[in-house]
This record gives sequence, structure tokens and C-alpha cells, in this order.
Amino acid sequence: MSHDDFPTDDPAVVTCGLPYANGDLHIGHLRTYVGGDVYSRALERLGQETAFVSGSDMHGTPVAVNAEQEGVSPEDFALDWHERYAATFPKFNVEFDNYGHTHDETNTAVTQGLVRDLDEAGHVYEKEIMVAYDPVDDQYLPDRYVEGTCPYCGAHARGDECDEGCQRHLEPGEVEDPESTITGNPAEYRERTHKFFAVSEFSEYLSGFLDRLEGTSNARNQPREWIEQGLQDWCITRDMDWGIDYPGGEATESPRGGGETADHDLVLYVWVDAPIEYISSTKQYSDRVGADAFDWEAAWKAGASDDHPEGGEVVHVIGRDIIQHHTIFWPAMLEATDHAEPRAVMASGFVTLGGKGFSTSRDRAVWADEYLDEGFHPDPLRYYLATNGGFQQDVDFSWEKFRDRVNTELVGTVGNFLYRSLLFAHRNYDDAPIADATSDEVDARIEEAIDDVEAAVNDYSVRALGDAVTDLARFGNEYIQRSEPWNLVDEDPEEAAQVIHDCVAIAKAIAVLFEPIAPEKCERLWAQLGEDDSVHEVTVDAAREGPAGDLAEPTELFEQIEDERVEALNEKLESRVAEAEASDEGDAGDADGDESGEESADDATDDEATDDEATDDTDMTDIEPLSDDRISFDDFQELDIRIGRIEEAEGIEGADDLLKLRVDLGAEARTIVAGLKQLHDVDNLPDTKVVVLANMEKAELFGVESNGMVLAAGDEADLLTTHEDAGPGTKVK
Ligand code: 2FM
Ligand code: ZN
Repeated sequence: MSHDDFPTDDPAVVTCGLPYANGDLHIGHLRTYVGGDVYSRALERLGQETAFVSGSDMHGTPVAVNAEQEGVSPEDFALDWHERYAATFPKFNVEFDNYGHTHDETNTAVTQGLVRDLDEAGHVYEKEIMVAYDPVDDQYLPDRYVEGTCPYCGAHARGDECDEGCQRHLEPGEVEDPESTITGNPAEYRERTHKFFAVSEFSEYLSGFLDRLEGTSNARNQPREWIEQGLQDWCITRDMDWGIDYPGGEATESPRGGGETADHDLVLYVWVDAPIEYISSTKQYSDRVGADAFDWEAAWKAGASDDHPEGGEVVHVIGRDIIQHHTIFWPAMLEATDHAEPRAVMASGFVTLGGKGFSTSRDRAVWADEYLDEGFHPDPLRYYLATNGGFQQDVDFSWEKFRDRVNTELVGTVGNFLYRSLLFAHRNYDDAPIADATSDEVDARIEEAIDDVEAAVNDYSVRALGDAVTDLARFGNEYIQRSEPWNLVDEDPEEAAQVIHDCVAIAKAIAVLFEPIAPEKCERLWAQLGEDDSVHEVTVDAAREGPAGDLAEPTELFEQIEDERVEALNEKLESRVAEAEASDEGDAGDADGDESGEESADDATDDEATDDEATDDTDMTDIEPLSDDRISFDDFQELDIRIGRIEEAEGIEGADDLLKLRVDLGAEARTIVAGLKQLHDVDNLPDTKVVVLANMEKAELFGVESNGMVLAAGDEADLLTTHEDAGPGTKVK
């Protein structure tokens, strides 16, 4: 089954992964929220009825451990952070229709109802398992209360995930050599009875679901492998006080104390009630605006509405570290309880800072509040985060790169076009009607930009949404330059009026199409264009309508960032990091386990994440100068470049980005390891003709010997190929 293109007649829900309510947000965390906000605004621009929801993730050990370390109750601790997040997101123009939290009444009721349904439908069973326990402190140690060694890859791991190694979700009892994170005491394993959700029964359903799933390809490729390896049932309860009680559970003892009774009190694992907040938050939105304005049940429940029998269009926007939860556990829970199946998962890469991970403990971060306190407007950061690479790629932030993109694209291309056009129009025509209609050429170019936006939404590409507008502004600059209206005013006033009418029409289209990325700036532009109401309320049709006249005196929309400013910001950051390191509050390395949200850039350990080049846009302004370092023809002859044909492609255990390819090179078939997993649909690779450097020195990657190198261009790993019939083994010369 394939989905109809957006816009459809069904209600859409765009969700953002819930941030754990446990620490300050930095700009790395903002990537998913900006991405979700941009995407949901763009859907609305296409006329899709859309709710944009999220909330704070209040439960679980990421919150409880931090609260314990601060000596406050988890509830007070989490509520405090929740309120701060709720205030921070709008400052970045991330405007959720509802931002709730997992500990509120709605989510407690919806979660307990859904789990009860799951249980009553026979998908939950009890099992004795080994649970880590601190005998000195007489305390069970769920999830992040315990650390040890990952049984799969040997890396140091948290109790619930192999955060420094293979990124796997770890079930209770799996981590080896357990130790308490609170006391450092060696832990022992004790037997406890827990509830399990029979996820393995859903393997077949989930395979089909992944075939239908849209969004970024990483959200399909990784789970397919997990299913192939065999799904484990999922322990959905924990020995903790803090969380939502298992429905119907009777308290018979303190769950944090010792004792072996099976009839103990259990709370739900945080990953049960967290995604259910997506539903609860939508419900709160409906309850507020009325079901006529947005019907949460029609969106979330299969069969709840005759008009939307399959439910709505659910799009989850998440960080790539939580793909497994959103493509295995969550859809299985939804399917088991007759909910709508998600249409798409957009899983973003991480954000690095100057090529390295963010480090909360070393203060090596650009904090969300700090960015604003420096006097920067939120929209340029939104533009940077949304467009500085494909959504599933890692993106590097540095003040230099930020300056370059702001100065070149926002100021130099978009702002420059708008200012010169609107100033000329205002000075020469003021509020008089300019021309009868937009010229065919410009009309067609605006239509092309609208098509680009529609395609970007249907491709789940927030970057392409930005490109659609910068390309249109580039055209605008070229059009005004070649038409020279300043010379036409006296020579041919009618033609001059036409050109300026066209430019104002382009400016109006920019306001409409750029609103998802730069909402506040586009409201200002909308007012300068003499338009009424809010540009947020219009659809792409408004971009086709042409100017309304009555132009206000324009002001520059974007501000240039000076080099001195960048130097000062870098100095500030460096001295802060040095201070934190000197006071020895930092961890041993940069991978300090930032727990403050899903886009922990500290997890960005793969090559692309730290390679500045790999995160650059391929826009002309970012093209490196051509090398002057010449090589001889003989040097070139030493490269044995051949045509190959991929025969097989599969993931490599423990490697996030790598694929093991079997490539036919005519004379022989070779095994080649390539970093293509996040960027290509693995299933489509077999039979692809590629270009291979056959005499590349051999390398061993994740235990696989790579015998050659597949050549690819740019940060999306665009595979080099040939267009005629050169077959495997043909030499490139
Ligand atoms: O990994 C995290 O940061 C989690 N708090 C994300 C939860 S997303 C969802 F499922 F609600
Ligand atoms: Zn591991």
C-alpha cells in the first residue's frame, strides 16, 4: 500500500520526540523540534489539517537519577524542567498546538487505558527475570541506575542502552558486570517477576509496516535488520516508585526495597507512557479547540471515524537514537490496540559543535537561552538547523559556518532580493496598483517553487523546503538584475511596472513559502507587503495571488554577522570550556552521556558526525576551491578504477552507517564496506552500477575486511555510475 500524496483529507499529527525533563536545552537538542515545527507548518501551508504536538518526558531513570543527585523529588525536578521547556520552545518559534507532559492526568489515564487493552487482548505476560540490585543500599537498580558492559559489543553501557557502543536497547538483566550509578557498589542480579509485551508476535506485521513506512530511510533500514535478527519481547515494567502505575497493580511493598515477592508494585517502563503522550497531547489539543476543529480520535484510532477509517496521517519526528522505539515497540503497541499506524518517521542525525560532540559537563555547548541572550534572532538558527544537511545526516554547528550561511544566503540572497525589490517598489510606486498580472515567466517560476515545496513535504525533506525558497530568491535577483527596472522607469514605465510587480509577487511567494522555516521574519515581510492578517494562516495558494499593493517602507529582514562577533563568541566558548576543564568538573572524554534530550550529540561517534566536509551543504557557496596540487598522468594511472555492480548489500552488526557490499568487478566479486546505510535504501542497492577504486588498500571495519572503495559524491553519498553499457570490470581511464 502506498500513501496518497500530501495534502490528504485525513487529519495529520506531527509529533516531536519528548525531551527528558532533566536539564538545559542546547542548540543540538533543537534540531528535531525545529525540524518538526518546519515540517508541520509546511504541511499546513499545503492545506493539510495538522496538529503539532509533543510534551516533556517526566518519568524513567534519566529523570529519577538526576533528581536524586540533586536531592529533590523527581516530580518537582521534572515539573521545573517541563515549565522551562514549555517556555523555551516558543522562543524559537517552535509552536506546538499542545505541549503536555507524561505525568499529567490525561496521559496517566490514556496510558493505563491502552495498557489495560493490551493486557486484555492477551499481549502481556509475566516472566521471572534477573534485575540488578544493590545489596548494600537495599535497592533495585533499573535502567540508568546501573551501568556495566554491553553483552553485544563489549562497550561500557547504561542499563537500558548501549549508548557508547552499538546503540542497542538493553533489556533488564542484560548488562554485564553491573554497578550502581548512585553508590558505585557492585550490583548483583535478583529474580523478580515482571510484565512483558509480546512484541515478537508482531514481527510479520512490523515487516509489512516498514514496507509502508515513509520518512527517512534510516528509520526503515535499521529496524529491518533487528526483525531479521529476531525480536525479543519487551519488559514493560520497572521496580521504581516514579512513573505511571501498572493498571490494576496493588501496592504490597515498597518497590525500591528488597524482598522477593512476585506480587510487587510495578510502574510502567518510561518508554511505554512516553509515546502514548503523543496521543494524550493530541487529545488535550482537541479538548481545548473542540473535536470539530481537530478530532484526536479520528487521527489516532483506526475505525473511529467513517470519514477516516484508517485513522490520520501520523508523522513522528525524532533523533536517530530512538528509531527502535518508534518503529518496533510503538507501532506494535498501536497495532495491538487498534490504533492508526504511523505514516512516517523522520529520524534526524546529531548535531556536533565545531566537529566535536556537545559536552554538558564541560560546558561545551551553545545553550538555547545563550543563543537568544546574545541577541540573535531565532529564525536564522532555524534556517541553519533545517537546511545545513539532509535530515538524517549529522550537522556541524560552528559560529563561522553559521555566519557564512546567514551572510551568504539569508542576507546576500533572500534579504538582498527582498530589500532591493521592495525599496524600489515603495519609492517608485508606493501603494498604486503596479501591473494587471504577474508575467508568464515569473508566474511559472513561482509555480515551480510551489511544486518544489510540495515535493519537499512528500519527500520529508526540510532542507529542500529551504532550498525551494533560496532558489526562488536567486532567480529573483537574476531577474531584477537582467531586467534593470531602474533604467526602464523613464524609458518604458509600463515595462518597469511589470518587472516590479513581478518582483513583489516573488517577494510574496517567498513570505508564504519561507514561513515554515522563518515564521517571524515572514510575518514581518507579510506586513511590509501590505497584507492583512497573518501569513501563518494562508496556504500556498496565496503565493499565486500576486501583490495586494500598499507597500510599507521596507527594512532589511536579516542582519549580517560580523567576523569580530564570531571571534568573540568563539573566545567565550573556549574560555568557558577551559574553565570547566580546569575545575575538573568535566568527564574523561567528550562522550559524557548528555541525558538532556534525544539528540545527544555526544553519541555522534561515527566519522560523518565529526567530519566538517561531510556536513556541508552542496550549495555553490560551499564548494571547496579546486586543488592546485597537480598529479601526473602516471599518478592517475596508478588508480585502478573499475565499473562494478552491487550484488548484495547488508548492514554490519554494531555499525550505524556501514554496509557490507558484495560487488561484481568482472574478474571477481569483492566485499567492500561503504558508509551508505543512513543515506540509501539498502533494498534498492543490489543491481546498482557503481564506480570502484579497486586498488584501495584493504581495511578492516567492524570485523569485515573491505577490499576496495565505492566512489560517491557529496554529503548524501550520491553514487557514481555510468550511463551507457560499460559492464563490471571495465576500467575507468
Ligand atoms: O530519548 C529520549 O530523550 C526520550 N525522552 C524520547 C521519548 S520520545 C517518545 F516516545 F515519546
Ligand atoms: Zn553494544
